[in-house]
Amino acid sequence: MIVAGIDDISIYSPGFFYPLEDLARRHGVDPAKYIVGIGQERMAVPTPDEDIVSMAANAVAPLLVNEVREEISTVIFATESGIDQSKSAGLFVHGVLGLNPNCRVVEFKQACYSATAGIQLASDLVRQRPKEKVLVIASDIARYERNSEGECTQGAGAVAMIVAANPRLLEIHPQSGVFSFDVMDFWRPNHREAAYVNGKLSIDVYLRSLTEAWLDFQRKDGLPLTSIDKLCFHQPFTKMSKKAFGALREAAGAEADHLDEKSYAESQIYGRQIGNTYSASLYIGLSSLLDNCDEDLTGRSVGLFSYGSGSVGEFFSVSVVEGYRRRLRSHAHRALLARRREIDYETYVAWFYTSVKSTEDRISPMQTTGRYRFAAIAEQRRIYAEVDCARLGSLNAVA
Ligand code: HMG
Repeated sequence: MIVAGIDDISIYSPGFFYPLEDLARRHGVDPAKYIVGIGQERMAVPTPDEDIVSMAANAVAPLLVNEVREEISTVIFATESGIDQSKSAGLFVHGVLGLNPNCRVVEFKQACYSATAGIQLASDLVRQRPKEKVLVIASDIARYERNSEGECTQGAGAVAMIVAANPRLLEIHPQSGVFSFDVMDFWRPNHREAAYVNGKLSIDVYLRSLTEAWLDFQRKDGLPLTSIDKLCFHQPFTKMSKKAFGALREAAGAEADHLDEKSYAESQIYGRQIGNTYSASLYIGLSSLLDNCDEDLTGRSVGLFSYGSGSVGEFFSVSVVEGYRRRLRSHAHRALLARRREIDYETYVAWFYTSVKSTEDRISPMQTTGRYRFAAIAEQRRIYAEVDCARLGSLNAVA
């Protein structure tokens, strides 16, 4: 069988963050609740001239080297925070980045899970047509009601992955375990910017889905836990990984004895600084694991659990390919996070809650530190543009 998997991975998150310590004070709670109890330090805040498309374009751009641009046969854009009821967000990315016109483009939705559906379908596609490459993008802004319990888990970011035959980063194993059922733990009707959520129920459903998906994975001849070296869970907030590990250990019993909190620690590093990115969270976690793990992971297996409220859970595994370190973009990812600037509460509220409400025609002032931006709305058409590089250079130099 043709081996399929992830050949390249790139992440993007806005150039500004709001510290959770300050949010805790505003909410009148002990900062340790957010920093230790929830496990989050900062939330990434998009500027008014950023959205899921501009974030996605910024994640994809570094991947378009050499012949890759021409080889992409399919673009799958996964998101919970779609910007159009009809047109795929992927087409805006296709346009602003000038991708190959002989390529299919589609948007996938199922809360935080959809990128995994994209990865699995992309893998099957390249197993059938090994010369083709599939660009899988996940991009989201996680938004809850102001002053709600969910506010401390907000964030924004995107991940872009090239799925190819004979991948140079990760081989995706064909077995996977899935579990779906209809439940109202988190949902967002079309007229809403912020999600409705039953937080406690969502945690229970996530853990039940993990257990059921794991059991299904075992029934379908997935790897035993004894053959898995690292773990990466969908991460709405980093404490959730600890809860997920507890549920997996309970389901797997003695098979889990060789694993402890260190087996997923590196997968939490980026998420703790960015916050929830819904469909992108699991893969930003995977990127964090690969970028930040000092051990050589060559030949080692990673177990991944993807969860999307509503709900779908999937457990699958990948193995790390020899030479993977040469393909990583660790330096760029760390630099992206290191040069972010802190904003105050008033700016956070204005950008996160006020600016999204305006759907009138407008030209957006230049505020992003990214290379691509959401520049305007003209006659109800969203316009995206590449930023003048000289201007961008001076903005990032100030940071
Ligand atoms: P809450 O009720 O305010 O928090 O909301 P809590 O009272 O449960 O406390 C949280 C933790 O902080 C607890 O630890 C406390 O003990 C601890 P735990 O028992 O969980 O280990 N704590 C402290 N620790 C240290 N010092 C202190 C202190 N005080 C308390 N002083 C909740 C928490 C997660 C429910 C809320 O933030 C929320 O609703 N978040 C949004 C929903 C969510 O993220 N759900 C996760 C599962 S569903 C999912 O992942 C899908 C999703 O990504 C969406 C999608 O699919 O698209 C959300």
